[in-house]
Amino acid sequence: MKKTIAIISQKGGVGKTTTAFNLGYSLSLTGNKVLVIDGDPQGGVALSCNLKTRTAKGLIHALKGTLEKETDVIEYLQDSFAVAGVGIEQPEDILYFEEAAASGTLGSLIQTLAADFDIVLIDAPVGVGRIVKALLEVCDSYLLLINCKAGTVKSLPRLIKLADYLKQSVNQDMELEGIVTTMFDKTISSEEKIFNHFKARLPNDFFLDIVIPYDSRYELAAIKAIPVALLADGTSTSEPYRKLALEILAKNESKGDRKADDLISSDKSDGYQRALKTEEDENSFQGNILGDILATMCERGDIYGAVIADEMGFSLDDYNSPVSTDALAAFTSVLNDTLEKADSILDVQDANNIQMDINENDKLILQKFEVLNSTYYLLAVCPREAEPIGEMSIAVSKIISKLA
Ligand SMILES: Nc1ncnc2c1ncn2[C@@H]1O[C@H](COP(=O)(O)OP(=O)(O)OP(=O)(O)O)[C@@H](O)[C@H]1O
Ligand SMILES: [Mg+2]
Repeated sequence: MKKTIAIISQKGGVGKTTTAFNLGYSLSLTGNKVLVIDGDPQGGVALSCNLKTRTAKGLIHALKGTLEKETDVIEYLQDSFAVAGVGIEQPEDILYFEEAAASGTLGSLIQTLAADFDIVLIDAPVGVGRIVKALLEVCDSYLLLINCKAGTVKSLPRLIKLADYLKQSVNQDMELEGIVTTMFDKTISSEEKIFNHFKARLPNDFFLDIVIPYDSRYELAAIKAIPVALLADGTSTSEPYRKLALEILAKNESKGDRKADDLISSDKSDGYQRALKTEEDENSFQGNILGDILATMCERGDIYGAVIADEMGFSLDDYNSPVSTDALAAFTSVLNDTLEKADSILDVQDANNIQMDINENDKLILQKFEVLNSTYYLLAVCPREAEPIGEMSIAVSKIISKLA
């Protein structure tokens, strides 16, 4: 495998630097020669491994041409694990770095540094500014990190649009390596709900299977400036990153390569993954019945797609005709907005359904219903001329009898 992967996120502090460093280390243990590049002027990678005690040379010096050769910025921590720090000390250097990003010299430097490695991971700054765009231009793929906090749910439509935008505008050859959920705390019940919410709404192949759990030992490893695997009791904490490394390798191996497939499937016996799968299996079993009701309703009522949501806006199940990510993003953004306003609109109108146009051709219909004192909503997207209220009412009666 020869690949340059950027690690990005819309929100700060979700574990990009931690992932770059620990995933990089795990990948280096699989026989690949790995370089982790600090693409963030904050210099998180250098801090992760106390790089300053070894070298002052960083990308900024290579960009300014003060080094004998550009590859002098590469510092080997182990035989097949190297890092390149950003080396920024002065505020004005941040501007220089941004200009180098805009002019393409940062991209060229990264390509030069990458030449001697199998896998290059780039730790990006938060968001999608000039620097991140420049990094993505020279990447083969990107890992998108998210956490399972309420704020992330609200930004889901933007996340889907972002994936589309990056592919279309920044680098058409670049793939989404996958979305990775980080700092997942299974003791907080809303995190599991949010996780399932994402999985139900995003195309299946967006997500990588491995989830990085919350573990305070990452903080400890950061303080000690070592990969978590090298902590005295770090083997179990580093397991998720080892598995993530294997999953990424397996995904990139040719499909016929049994060795990688076997590795990853044997790794799925892990208790945490098993618990998660069982929960998902249960949901999808319950969901199939609801999904069937929605599918019938969509077919008879000339509806593109529909979803049943609880009061919090979490879907119980959804039925989507094969839609583009763009349509999915529009649907999801309308859905969140509509649910926020639904109660007040319905009260004012003294009705149990509302209809609103979402673009020139399509409208959204929301129908409210109660089961055992809990409120639910059935939302459907259909052409403006369709009149599916009758079909929706039939579906609601069936849903109530299943949920009651
Ligand atoms: N799985 C985890 N469990 C617990 N703490 C974690 C985990 N991953 C990272 N951390 C801690 O969370 C903090 C933020 O992590 P990190 O610096 O990797 O995020 P980031 O996305 O790179 O942030 P920024 O956007 O500022 O660059 C750090 O203190 C780190 O040690
Ligand atoms: Mg960082």
